[in-house]
Amino acid sequence: MNGRIKFDFNNAMAENIGSKMGVTKERLLSFADFTKKAHNDMQKRRREKQLPFYDLPYNKSLVDEINSFAKDTISKFDAMVVIGIGGSALGPVAMMSALCHSYHNELPAGKRKGLRAYFTDNVDPDTTKDLLDLIDPAKTLFLVVTKSGSTSETITTFFILRKLLIDAVGEDKYKDNLVFITDPENGNLRRIADADGIKSFPIEPLVGGRFTVMTPVGLLPAALMGIDIVKFLDGAKIMDEWVSSDDLIKNPAYLYAVLQYIAYLNGAPISVLMPYSNALSRLADWYVQLWAESLGKETNLDGFIDYVGPTPLKAVGATDQHSQVQLFKEGPYDKIVTFIRVENFKNELKIPEAYRDYKGISYLSGHTMNELIDSEQKATEAALAKEGRPSITITVQEVNESSLGQLMYLLEVATVFSGYLYNIDPLGQPGVEEGKNFTYGLLGREGYEDKRKEFDAIYKKNGDYII
Ligand code: PA5
Repeated sequence: MNGRIKFDFNNAMAENIGSKMGVTKERLLSFADFTKKAHNDMQKRRREKQLPFYDLPYNKSLVDEINSFAKDTISKFDAMVVIGIGGSALGPVAMMSALCHSYHNELPAGKRKGLRAYFTDNVDPDTTKDLLDLIDPAKTLFLVVTKSGSTSETITTFFILRKLLIDAVGEDKYKDNLVFITDPENGNLRRIADADGIKSFPIEPLVGGRFTVMTPVGLLPAALMGIDIVKFLDGAKIMDEWVSSDDLIKNPAYLYAVLQYIAYLNGAPISVLMPYSNALSRLADWYVQLWAESLGKETNLDGFIDYVGPTPLKAVGATDQHSQVQLFKEGPYDKIVTFIRVENFKNELKIPEAYRDYKGISYLSGHTMNELIDSEQKATEAALAKEGRPSITITVQEVNESSLGQLMYLLEVATVFSGYLYNIDPLGQPGVEEGKNFTYGLLGREGYEDKRKEFDAIYKKNGDYII
């Protein structure tokens, strides 16, 4: 199908890379029945609206609302600051990196389709303060994104930037520069939005943070940056159709998940995502969170302590050939690499004729930079295959709204399906809570006094061990 990504798993198979880590066809097909059962269950849960992430690409009225809001808003502001963390930031960051000009924020307004965009996804006092050197609060739209409405990092930054905004434009006007993206009914932010009449967009309640890129969490910042969110969601629909097959070897999401799982069982729990494209580098960050937070679980679905979970790792080609590939090629057999290869970049850069007498470098002349990066991807894939190290290669014709929508949807479905393989619930994140609770105790939040005591009992430092 035109524009559809390609999923190539040759170099995960024993035929190509040998039997040490390679998967035989029989082994792969031994998951076929399991796949059908899991597929049926996922589809049933989809019909019963328990997995609403599946249907996010089809919410036309929401898309219309977002687009019309973006159209009215872009001309009123110069920049946008997105205040959010984890699943409330990584999706739109990946969209910006993939779909906007590489130097979007530095371009003059006339050459940009949307607002300059900054993401504050950490409570680092220096970067937060430094942001103020770049924005004029009066001309900036602040999007506060938190599904729970109480994430301490997000609320802290909101409080700080809100004060700044009030100082700049006054109590009566500051709300015009604010938009909340939060739960439609619950949480502090929802209460504030309702009480103070602040413009807000809802996050589908049963969609967990890391699956929200196709809700206003991803779509609103994207539209405000000038990204075509209709095409993005159309890409997700293409993938939805493709992954509706219950046939393991025809379904890229299930294949991806099963090949990762077999690698995990074979002692390779590290799942590297390595796009050969700067534009897709932040997709790898998004994937790391999706895979780690969804699949790293202490307790399995039978209630037993199991300590399950593959470890996602980001790498970017060709840059990481000069950093991590040494380890991938010669280190432990504990990884499966997924390459993302871009067939056509937006630009083609010819390598000019130069230094003809220097044979060691002159061979580059006459080629293009595009040929170089593509050859490097193939070469790394072959070098790993030669050592019997498994990889998958996903090829996108070009990085655009459609291919990004396809990739994200594929990885989301693969993640949920992996929950069945690892026998865990991929939708919760109980492990994140303990650290949050200790922080509440430390900062004196009411109701968390016991957590403070528990923290004090655990956090003991022996001076002998500090030098
Ligand atoms: O995937 C998740 O659920 C988390 O990463 C959340 O997105 C993150 O903790 C932020 O939560 P919230 O949107 O409630 O502020």
